[in-house]
Amino acid sequence: MKITVNQKSLSEWSGQVLVIGLVEGSIENQLKNLDGICDLKSLALYAKARDFSAKPGEIIKLDFLNSSPEKLILIGLGKVEELSINNLREGACLASRSSIGSTGKIGVFFPWEAFELSVAAKAVAESIRLSIFKDLRFNSDPKQQRSPQELDLIGIPEDAIHFISQVDPICSGVELARELVGAPPNDLTPSTLANKAIETAKEFNLDYKILERLDCEAQGMGAYLAVAKGSDLDPKFIHLTYKPKGAIKRRIAIVGKGLTFDSGGYNLKVGASQIEMMKYDMGGSASVIGAARAIGEIAPIGTEIHFIVASCENMVNGSAVHPGDIVTASNGKTIEINNTDAEGRLTLADALVYACKLKPDSIVDLATLTGACVIALGEEIAGLWVNDDDLANELEKASSSCGEKLWRMPLQKSYKEGLKSMLADIKNTGPRAGGSITAALFLTEFIDDGISWAHLDIAGTCWADKDRGLDPAGATGFGVRTLVSWACQ
Ligand code: BES
Ligand code: MN
Ligand code: ZN
Repeated sequence: MKITVNQKSLSEWSGQVLVIGLVEGSIENQLKNLDGICDLKSLALYAKARDFSAKPGEIIKLDFLNSSPEKLILIGLGKVEELSINNLREGACLASRSSIGSTGKIGVFFPWEAFELSVAAKAVAESIRLSIFKDLRFNSDPKQQRSPQELDLIGIPEDAIHFISQVDPICSGVELARELVGAPPNDLTPSTLANKAIETAKEFNLDYKILERLDCEAQGMGAYLAVAKGSDLDPKFIHLTYKPKGAIKRRIAIVGKGLTFDSGGYNLKVGASQIEMMKYDMGGSASVIGAARAIGEIAPIGTEIHFIVASCENMVNGSAVHPGDIVTASNGKTIEINNTDAEGRLTLADALVYACKLKPDSIVDLATLTGACVIALGEEIAGLWVNDDDLANELEKASSSCGEKLWRMPLQKSYKEGLKSMLADIKNTGPRAGGSITAALFLTEFIDDGISWAHLDIAGTCWADKDRGLDPAGATGFGVRTLVSWACQ
């Protein structure tokens, strides 16, 4: 989607869909800007007759034939004194969805003056683009969705165009993550995920390395390889690196859970455990590769960034891991696998040890790790566990600036008791209560002292059953925007 800004008056603007954001109060006054587009008196009467008072979520859509614009959308943004960036995001999404069916240019005129332009323009542009995304790859008759291909932010000075220069790379990263997650598990396997990562690396000047099963064996990755054992498909350990031009001031690693399918293993997913949805168990890795794509294009200075994914499938066959097996991770710790469905943390264990060996300043992992996190925080908020308050602040700042919601959860040390094994150093699962916390505590066993580390449980946020905020139903690409914002700061 091509994005432009201009300071034309509304009556001078030409395009197919015109969106106007209105605040509560005199609608007629605000519509004055529209002089020349349509008969204002009747528009105000029309709005009044439909009880439109510009409350958040209110919308009026008008179609005109053979004119510019062909569609006029009035969006309620709420009370002027309560106006927030989130109101703009929500208004933009609503308008954007309503524009589906029209092609050409969509123009958006919002009360920019109430905001810092750099923040508002970026938020609105991202919302418009991301909410009309549609994945048509798996349809035998992929009719192109009719939706606007150009966006014009109206009422913004031309020299403000640089405020939205990152919108395209970031949204492309989110869309890549959505496509990776949305692809079914017979299409997106550890090998095709690795190939996508290599393709991305080549296109955006990242270094890449794929560790095969034998390489992982040589590194002693017994936890990760135990999970991969039950699958006919080879595991692929993916490592991309972004090296900035000039001096390196900070080194970070981003690690993603990459289970291209999670059957549960011999602790098979049954009943309401949604086994048929477990293609999205590589949501963490998708966001990591999506972020790599965006960062490669943005090319921030000062920070070296490692992207790490230990990808495999959790399946059942004659060589699959047994419930009760004891394995050794690459840091030498022994793990009793008392539940083969807690496989994500086993793959992350070796991925985190690998990340620690790179001696980064901080590590952030993203994983669709626990159903317990979905129960705790629902589908709009990801859980955040972090061993360092500064990193917590950085991530909270990054996520709130881009509208992805995180909630900090405790690393309650006493709950480690629940992971005690009679035989091994640790078990992979504890009691049902506090399941997302013990999962995070398990991961801390694989982080070296002195490295700041954060874990994001995105089990609830990586998929939307129906349209939600700027996410169309399906894969959300959650995490890409927070990661890019954090990495590029
Ligand atoms: N991939 C699942 C977690 C999950 C569940 C993600 C629902 C999205 C929606 C993970 O591998 C898993 O199976 N976790 C178990 C852990 C349990 C065995 C301790 C869970 O949450 O039930
Ligand atoms: Mn599982
Ligand atoms: Zn899983």
